[in-house]
Amino acid sequence: MSALSREAFGVLKLLASRGASEAPVFLSSRELGEAIGASQQAASQYLIALTQQGLLTRSLSGRKQGLSLTPAGAQVLRKELEELKSIVEGPSPLELTGGVVSGLGEGRYYLSIGGYVSQFRSRLGYKPFPGTLNVKLTPEGLARLGKVRSLAGVRIDGFTDQGRTFGGANCYPSKLNGRPCHLIVPDRTHYSDVAEFIAAVELRRALRLKDGDTVEMVVGDGTRPTGRRS
Ligand code: CDP
Repeated sequence: MSALSREAFGVLKLLASRGASEAPVFLSSRELGEAIGASQQAASQYLIALTQQGLLTRSLSGRKQGLSLTPAGAQVLRKELEELKSIVEGPSPLELTGGVVSGLGEGRYYLSIGGYVSQFRSRLGYKPFPGTLNVKLTPEGLARLGKVRSLAGVRIDGFTDQGRTFGGANCYPSKLNGRPCHLIVPDRTHYSDVAEFIAAVELRRALRLKDGDTVEMVVGDGTRPTGRRS
């Protein structure tokens, strides 16, 4: 869709407020102009533009025109609502579903390294259970997780220890079956449909989970990212 002028958007909003998403609203161009503080000619131009963009349909009944929002027109308003909601309230947490899987035991190794543990303690406020709980996402969940960078995360910096380089990561406050934890996204991550979670407790034990069990995840707590993260 090409960009909608502020005035044309105002016309959509006015018509929707009068019920034009459900049933035709009968309004002449002159009446519409008066309602939005524009001339009859301008109002008529907005209606033509909205109709050409597929956002509005016009039907004639005698000398009156019936104006209806198309589903695409209603969608324009819904999209604006989502944008405003996100600006005012912060980004919505991501809701995902997946199944518990086992990995190669690397989590236990990394989560035991001093350079990471000290940062988890100071920045997340807890010493994590040594390991990551792996959850294989559904394709839909994986697509949703693509928005994770729009959420506020906690930065874990990379470092060098005895000549070895350890990469950084971002941690996002999350809940797994209602339990607080963090999703951890390493900087140098290969393509994967597996999400990894860390927590102060052993999640398998706390939530009685075994491989193949379905879990509900909520990633993000509605706060907006601040400053620059790499
Ligand atoms: O072998 P895998 O890579 O799956 O696991 P790991 O990262 O070495 O973690 C060791 C075990 O603890 C695995 O069974 C994880 O699923 C589990 N775990 C957990 O229950 N709760 C956590 N907070 C972290 C790991």
